[in-house]
This record gives sequence, C-alpha cells and structure tokens, in this order.
Amino acid sequence: MELLITGGTGFVGRPLVERLVAAGHECVVVSRDPAAAGARLPAGARAVAYTEPWPAVAGVIHLAGESIVGLWTPAKRRRIMGSRVNGTRLLVNWLKQVQPRPGVLLSMSAVGIYGDRPGEVVAEDSPLDPAGKFRAQVCLAWEMEALAAQAPETRVVLLRLGNVMDPAGGFLGELLNVYRRAPVVGFGSPPAMLSWISLRDTVALIAFALENQAVSGPLNVTAPRPVSQGELTALVAAHLGKRVWGHLPGGVLRLGLGAFADAFLDSQVARPGKALAHGFQFNDESFAAYMRQLAD
Ligand SMILES: NC(=O)c1ccc[n+]([C@@H]2O[C@H](COP(=O)([O-])OP(=O)(O)OC[C@H]3O[C@@H](n4cnc5c(N)ncnc54)[C@H](OP(=O)(O)O)[C@@H]3O)[C@@H](O)[C@H]2O)c1
Repeated sequence: MELLITGGTGFVGRPLVERLVAAGHECVVVSRDPAAAGARLPAGARAVAYTEPWPAVAGVIHLAGESIVGLWTPAKRRRIMGSRVNGTRLLVNWLKQVQPRPGVLLSMSAVGIYGDRPGEVVAEDSPLDPAGKFRAQVCLAWEMEALAAQAPETRVVLLRLGNVMDPAGGFLGELLNVYRRAPVVGFGSPPAMLSWISLRDTVALIAFALENQAVSGPLNVTAPRPVSQGELTALVAAHLGKRVWGHLPGGVLRLGLGAFADAFLDSQVARPGKALAHGFQFNDESFAAYMRQLAD
C-alpha cells in the first residue's frame, strides 16, 4: 500500500513507519520540516512538506499534534487544540478531493476522551467524559474532524491511545530518566488506574487496524490489563533497584502542573474490547510482565 503519514517522525510514528516499510508499504511522511524528517526516517520512506502536493495514496495515518506535555497555559491549550483540529481538517479536505480516494484514514485520539472514571471499565461504546475536561474536548473535536472523511469508499478508525510505554521515550522513558537521578516519588494517586500499552503493541495494533478491513470507528489502543499508579511506581522502582519514598499528593501535583496533572490523577480502565474481538494478539498484557522482560 502507498501510505501518507503525518507525525511519522515522533515517538510512535518512527517505529510505525519502520514497521510499515519493513512490511513492504510505501510511506510518504508529511512533516513541518521535511529535511530534518528525511534524515530521521528509515530508508524507503520519504518526507514531504505540508505545503507541497501530496501523492494519491491507498491509506492515511494521522498522528501529528502538539505535545500535551507541559504547562497548559492558554497559548499551549490553543496549540494542542489548534494543531489537531486544523491539521485534521486540512488532511480530510485533501482526502475528500484526491482521486482515487484513499480507502482508509487512521486518526489518533486518546483514552483521555473518557475522562476520570474511577471504578468503571470503559469500552469503545461507553459514554465520553461526563465532566467534559480539556483532554476530552480535544479528543472529541479531533475525532469529529476525522469522521468527516467517512464515506462508503473510506474507512475511518479513531485510535484511542492509552499511555504508550517504552524505556526509550514517552512517560516511561521520562520516569526512568528522573528516577535514575532522584529518589522515587510516585506521581498521581496510588489507586488511580492507568490504561497503558507497550510501544511495540501500539505499532502492531495500528498496523493491524490498517490491514483489517473489519476494524472501523473508535478503537481502544490499550493493553488488556491496566496498572494502578501505585503498582507502576513500585515496578519502575524495582526495575532500577530503588525503593519508593512516597507519592506526591494530588494538590501538590496540581500546584506544579495545573490542569495537566489530570493526566496523572484521572483513573481510567479503557478495555481494548474491539481489538480482542477482532483477534489481535498482545505481546504485553500486564505491566508487571512487561517490566520483567525489560530486565531480561
Ligand atoms: N505517546 C503517547 O503515550 C500518546 C498517548 C495518547 C495519544 N497520543 C497521540 O498520538 C500522537 C503521536 O504521539 P507521539 O507520542 O508519537 O507524539 P510526538 O512524539 O510528540 O510526535 C508528534 C509528531 O507531530 C508533529 N507535531 C508536533 N507538534 C506539532 C504541531 N504543533 N503541529 C503539527 N504537528 C506537530 C511532529 O512531526 P513533524 O515535526 O515531523 O511535523 C511530531 O513528530 C499524538 O497526536 C499524541 O497526542 C500519544
């Protein structure tokens, strides 16, 4: 398949492009800086700018968006929302007029769309965040833009990612960096549940959704077994041979991080119901086993 991919230079995008190229797909990565992107992409993938004409392709994978990490000042919120809404609109408008029309659009979203749901298990058909917090507002607006591409000839999949774990980056990579240099103090409230997924399963499940015609609509990209913030801190500490000194109280975290603290404090169990129903096989089902195999 010839594929157009945005955000192909990122933490998830790079290994995804690598896997797709290895599987024989032709990957064109749309980047804000194609020269820099070209140097980071695997041989076999090429980078193009947002401002140049894009080739007609069989499928589109849309990952790009301003990082949510950092203080959510009004300007940062505008960048988080605007990069996703405007970027998706641009892509979908192009997709609707290109001939032949791409057969599939896989567009990023996140489990943040479900909000804080202590004691619940949410699936793809569950109601969205009842509190309508910022993360959910962004995901909803992003998904609505992507759904505008839906047509008999174009399948749309909304990838609701959990927290993607890999020792080389993302949340786990940052935690390992910090905890290597400082005492281990947990973020978030220990009983709060985190829907996580390993990077290799993320990439495999996105490729599965690309190739499996039966998958459409929202897709929880999460591991079958969530982990509590308390267990996660203990497992990361054990991996480094360190002890846990305690957990930052939510109020302190909110003082330091503002509303971004919700990413650590909200409790979410987002079940990968659709992935399991379609027969996707996870490599990493539990966070404990995932951390154990990292040590091997
Ligand atoms: N990682 C996770 O745990 C996680 C969880 C849930 C959802 N997600 C979502 O999944 C997507 C990919 O995640 P990731 O961790 O790979 O993100 P990432 O490493 O931050 O990469 C995102 C890519 O988007 C592009 N980008 C960055 N800022 C942008 C902006 N202001 N406007 C337009 N494009 C911009 C960049 O590509 P260029 O510089 O080449 O243009 C970058 O490589 C993101 O949309 C993220 O919100 C990630």
